[in-house]
Amino acid sequence: MGMTARDRLIVALDLSSVEAARALVTRCGDAVSFYKIGYQLGFAGGLSFARTLIGEGKQVFLDFKLHDIGNTVEKGTQSIARLGATFLTVHAYPQTMTAAVAGKRGSSLKILAVTVLTSYDDNDLATAGYRLKVAELAATRARQAVELGIDGLVCSAEEAASLRKIVGPAIALVTPGIRPAGAATGDQKRIMTPSKAIAAGADYLVVGRPITEAADPKAAAEAVVAEIAGAAN
Ligand code: C5P
Repeated sequence: MGMTARDRLIVALDLSSVEAARALVTRCGDAVSFYKIGYQLGFAGGLSFARTLIGEGKQVFLDFKLHDIGNTVEKGTQSIARLGATFLTVHAYPQTMTAAVAGKRGSSLKILAVTVLTSYDDNDLATAGYRLKVAELAATRARQAVELGIDGLVCSAEEAASLRKIVGPAIALVTPGIRPAGAATGDQKRIMTPSKAIAAGADYLVVGRPITEAADPKAAAEAVVAEIAGAAN
């Protein structure tokens, strides 16, 4: 894909303050080029911090999982595109995806769709009024995402190989739930090592606590980058 191993690692800044995020980014230094900001930091000053990071040459993934009426999603996406973010997540509803694709037009922002949240099982979908099972809904939405011009999907590394068959080579697969061998699993259930995730077809790996909570975050990030480089050869 013409990317360096370092550019394929996205560190999740799941931290409660900009000060904590700044401290981590400083400690990681050149080892990390790409950061993810979600609700926790995003709603605690993280948007202006995103702008700062972009100004320092880092790439930023805004994990805001947008979903609203089309006009609102389109205008919100335009604002995020102007910020200079690289990735933005939206829920994989056709209207929402269409609006986000329209909103990013003319910018370098890429839209990632979340097919079905991994916290949902078949029962949760039924309770929410869906007739499809998780696997069926995820496959349907993945096909729709490709048709509607979405740039990538967020998925578990376990799903990467089967999703790749549905979406083809041009769609980026971005996978959280990554745990280097020996790292604590935390609350993640479906985990994979960096090299296995790359071998399964992941383009980008999202890693949070194994790096943010490491005694030496820079060394932890460098180890993941080395593992990506080894697996990509
Ligand atoms: O700390 P950890 O490596 O588990 O962080 C993973 C990151 O990826 C978190 O920001 C989490 O919200 C996100 N994520 C996830 N599982 C999903 C989707 C997103 O862990 N299915």
